[in-house]
Amino acid sequence: MGLFDRKKSCKAGQVDMSRLPRHIAIIMDGNGRWAKKRGLPRTAGHKVGAEVFRKIATYCKNLGVEYLTVYAFSTENWKRPAEEVDTLMALFKNYMLEAIDTMERDHIRLQFFGDMSAVSPELQALVERTNEMSRHIEGFQANICLNYGGRDEILHAARECTAAGEELTEENFAKHLYSAGVPDPELIIRPSGEIRLSNFLLWQCAYSELYFCDTLWPDFDERTLDAAIIDYQKRDRRFGGVK
Ligand code: FPP
Repeated sequence: MGLFDRKKSCKAGQVDMSRLPRHIAIIMDGNGRWAKKRGLPRTAGHKVGAEVFRKIATYCKNLGVEYLTVYAFSTENWKRPAEEVDTLMALFKNYMLEAIDTMERDHIRLQFFGDMSAVSPELQALVERTNEMSRHIEGFQANICLNYGGRDEILHAARECTAAGEELTEENFAKHLYSAGVPDPELIIRPSGEIRLSNFLLWQCAYSELYFCDTLWPDFDERTLDAAIIDYQKRDRRFGGVK
């Protein structure tokens, strides 16, 4: 076995498989800078980023992580040039078409979190289809945040909870979040060197462990995820109590 393989298995071996986070969330950041460094259009970074999402989702599923949530398009991303927005929407469409063909076979549930009223009717129909198909599938769940904003999600849930005439408790409120039924992420990862949450999972992050690294998303790989999980496993999680 070559040195490279031995190094890889050594690193992966440090992940304690009995203490994996059930839910990992990732802000897929740095696509634009990755492309610029190579003299490529920003859209090239997003295309590679979509492949990296596939690779990391597969790795999470194989590790035994139950949920992966990724920030793919924020409520603020509409401000970007039309060409970039169109490329991202085309990537989402292709991914959904592919998912519709393979998710039952691969036991993958796919959910979209966000306000879908602003996306095209074609994408809305595909989102409804994948969300509906997922209700009948058991297994790993990938959540893609599309036209998603944490504040928007909180307002949306507050309005729905009030309209339903329910008492405003944490439990009732959480039932109206886009993430209803999904446990809060134990680990939130942001690559690319930015150290902020940028309106991501603001309700759900209350006790999440945060992990930041400099890798740009298109360079993110299984070993980068291992490093994040290993770091998470060293944290002392007290949830406001004492041990
Ligand atoms: C942030 O990097 C990234 C985005 C706004 C888009 C993320 C979307 C993908 C990776 C495609 C996902 C596709 C599927 C199928 C889920 P940035 O462009 O802001 O990077 P920068 O900060 O370097 O400019």
